[in-house]
Amino acid sequence: MDNVFIMDHPLIQHKISILRNKETGTNEFRKLIEEIAVLMGFEALRDLPLEDVEVETPIETCRTPMISGKKLAVVPVLRAGLGMVNGITTLVPSAKIGHIGLYRDPVTHEPHEYYCKLPDPIDQRLIVMVDPMLATGGSAISAVNFIKQHGGKSIKCMFVIAAPEGLKRLHEVHPDVQIYVGHLDRELNDRAYICPGLGDAGDRIFGTK
Ligand code: URA
Repeated sequence: MDNVFIMDHPLIQHKISILRNKETGTNEFRKLIEEIAVLMGFEALRDLPLEDVEVETPIETCRTPMISGKKLAVVPVLRAGLGMVNGITTLVPSAKIGHIGLYRDPVTHEPHEYYCKLPDPIDQRLIVMVDPMLATGGSAISAVNFIKQHGGKSIKCMFVIAAPEGLKRLHEVHPDVQIYVGHLDRELNDRAYICPGLGDAGDRIFGTK
């Protein structure tokens, strides 16, 4: 699939395996989610444009590349996406941060928006939307719809784990969006949880269960 990138780096796979373990506690879980976001961000941002600037080293003056052009916005989908924000801002400290709040109807599993605030203007920015879990794809599709309605044009999405159903749906609806996935899991169960997955990412990041 064009624009879909499944990460196969051993460090990411190893850290995801620790996340899956139900005995992994909140503190370690939160740290690992952030570390995975750094590793995924490193790959997802490899096409950031560079421009040469002049720098005086202790030896001589040289022209040397620095990141130029597009500014970055990280947009976590609340609440679990918050766990990935520091990973991206570690790489790009100047990034602005937007928020999209969606909750899943417990019966229909459809997403409903309850909060949204994006950096303005958003159209010149590269937007990195983050959410640890891509399950049905409903929330991700709504979040990308929302970003596009606000003028967002250049969008990358990062998910630690995806279900095949959600990945297919998101890619079909938004083929222009680049999707980065840490691991593609087997399937969704009848409660729209990813299997084998890691449970409820928000609860595990925030220790609310
Ligand atoms: N969201 C989660 O946190 N976990 C899942 O398995 C599916 C959606």
